[in-house]
Amino acid sequence: MKFLKYILIFTLAFLASCKTAKVSTQTHTPPIKDITKMQGGMWIPSQLEGMNEVEMQYLGSKLSASDIYDTTQPSIKDAIVQFNGGCTAEVISDKGLLLTNHHCGFGAIQSHSSVENDYLSDGFWAKDMKSELPNEGMVVTFIISMDNVTDQMFAGTENLEGAAFDKMMQTNKKAILDAVIKEKWQDAEVKSFSNGNEFYLIISEEYKDIRLVGAPPSSIGKFGADTDNWMWPRHSGDFSMFRIYADKDNHPATYSESNVPYTPKHFLPISLDGVETGDFTLVFGFPGRTQEYLPSVAIEQIIKKLNPDKIAIREASLAVMDKYMRQDPQIKIQYASKFAGIANYWKKWIGESQGLVASNAVATKKQLEADFKRIVEEKGLTVYQGIFDDFDKLYSEYGEVAQARDYWIEVIYRNIELMNLSFQLYRLEQVYDQKGAETFIVAKDDFIAGLEGFYKNYNAQVDRDIFAKLMRIYYEKYPDPTAKYPDLAQAMRDKAQYIYTNSKLVSYPGIQSIFSGDEASVILDKLHADPAYVIGKKFSEQFFNEINPNYYKIKDQLEVLQKKYIKGLITVFPDSKYFPDANSTLRVTYGQVKGYEPKDGVEYLPVSYLDGVIEKYIPGDYEFDVSKKLQDLYASKDFGSYGEHSKMPVNFIGTNHTTGGNSGSPVLDANGYLIGLNFDRVWEGTMSDYNYDATICRNIMVDARYILFIIDKYAGAKHLIDEMQLVHPKKQ
Ligand code: ARG
Ligand code: ASP
Repeated sequence: MKFLKYILIFTLAFLASCKTAKVSTQTHTPPIKDITKMQGGMWIPSQLEGMNEVEMQYLGSKLSASDIYDTTQPSIKDAIVQFNGGCTAEVISDKGLLLTNHHCGFGAIQSHSSVENDYLSDGFWAKDMKSELPNEGMVVTFIISMDNVTDQMFAGTENLEGAAFDKMMQTNKKAILDAVIKEKWQDAEVKSFSNGNEFYLIISEEYKDIRLVGAPPSSIGKFGADTDNWMWPRHSGDFSMFRIYADKDNHPATYSESNVPYTPKHFLPISLDGVETGDFTLVFGFPGRTQEYLPSVAIEQIIKKLNPDKIAIREASLAVMDKYMRQDPQIKIQYASKFAGIANYWKKWIGESQGLVASNAVATKKQLEADFKRIVEEKGLTVYQGIFDDFDKLYSEYGEVAQARDYWIEVIYRNIELMNLSFQLYRLEQVYDQKGAETFIVAKDDFIAGLEGFYKNYNAQVDRDIFAKLMRIYYEKYPDPTAKYPDLAQAMRDKAQYIYTNSKLVSYPGIQSIFSGDEASVILDKLHADPAYVIGKKFSEQFFNEINPNYYKIKDQLEVLQKKYIKGLITVFPDSKYFPDANSTLRVTYGQVKGYEPKDGVEYLPVSYLDGVIEKYIPGDYEFDVSKKLQDLYASKDFGSYGEHSKMPVNFIGTNHTTGGNSGSPVLDANGYLIGLNFDRVWEGTMSDYNYDATICRNIMVDARYILFIIDKYAGAKHLIDEMQLVHPKKQ
């Protein structure tokens, strides 16, 4: 029981009586038998003082809350950035050198690649700063401060409801933002946490000139690719390197040759000492989304209704891409990133459903709900009476609308590129409807210019086959009442053939010919005559007029109920420790290096070695090939100072509670030194977004020493190592 387990932490905190129980007096034997039961949680860095600090120190940390987060002097948080809106990265030198995952830099590496200059296959290492490659549109964001403004947000709302409540919240928000003191290049926003139970004012700074410095070949950075994805044991060197450039005052600026490497307030020293079971680990980054406090009925619906169909749709799309990618090296490059993106959550959902079943998530939540109900009755907390009946009722309606939206998103938006493009064109047409011809003409020029990259990676044949397969799945589920198909599969193949032969949208010159000229009505006439757009527009209208409104009618009510439930949990279990669900804001999570038992009679060790890379080696395979150079380094055991007992550590796992967005997050030791780079989770624990369970949920990290070994010994990019600060904390 998640909530009850935190009571244990409370006891622990009390026993520790704050900072008296210091690290030096500790061993790795916890005072309470099963310390694993107490971990989990993604904490707001400005809220670590107290219980978190104590728990961290029990786990071996020597850091104070203010070492991690401080707004009055440099702290570790000043080395952490959100990487291009999705992943995390960290600064590892005084010249703005950034470390993130290979899969986070993948799009950038790919965009600089061609069949002749294939950085995806061969890797890329800038020999000096002048050779670092700019990436248009790429940004990284530092967090300057995160302040709890919940009380200010709720001021004066006590007796308000509905629109009046919303209006007061807007007024309060405006007052908070108006009062912010910040530099002119900084941004301020008030963000909602815990379904609107808490609010934080976040001040941030966005740097816009980010250049590619280095990436290993995919055979290292993506070793094991989709077969190994979400799995342990793992052997991947999933890292890439960038550099932040700033103007001469060290402030954000768009790309310019005159920009200079950014000087950080703090950068992370890198430990050469490695890890062993029980070592403290801290992961600092930007987790995207968790839903730890859903009721059991929602979890049941995910397992039985929502996940299975999403999985089936993606499977169909992946099968088509896979077939073409195996036949044609050009398509392999064009579709590598798209394939990985679609495969990633396809596989995650499978593991997630299995894990939710295996960890008895529904039964555990039902037990919690029974306790909740009992206490509500005992204490006469009438506002919370009947909350689960309300959930049941709303979720029974939600199932259908959520599924309809999933089908639309997966089929139309995510997997058929021409339909996704039509959707974007539909939005463009709305610019004409809403803002007039002049604005439309400017917008369309920008939009079409931005499509060059899309067409570079587009293959109409692949897309046509995906269209035929996925539309069949769509119409099987939601038959078109205006058309009867005696043979749906054949009808969709014919339809696909017709559209992809006759639409101009399948090529760059084609779409340019539709959008040429300055006459909005002529352009729109041409667009309306395009067969892909005709069907794409119909689907877009259906989304906005039907699917989305139906969905939000229920979803909005669920949000209100969920907000009440979370408040209820805090009220009903007041001694429990509680963290707000991830929402792409900066968080700290911590744990220990630890193996696990995936099933009865099997135990996984927490560290993997280069030996495992060689064991998995399949010559010429697109997932498991190993270059001659890496084989030679392995054979000669030429690991420099990065190896350990003549072995080269590669990956390790721990109990840190992470999610999507934590990729590229630094893993720090007890001193705040970098020991690894987070990139994934284990299969049995991917359900951690709904039901973190410390016995089985593990995050997967690249050992920092493997990264250094690849940079130094494999790539010969010693100049990058020289920029870093390498330390030996255990030998100090
Ligand atoms: N599963 C990891 C995450 O969710 C890594 C994904 C990248 N790798 C891949 N094979 N798709 O992002
Ligand atoms: N691989 C994920 C990411 O890219 C991390 C995870 O989901 O564990 O953020």
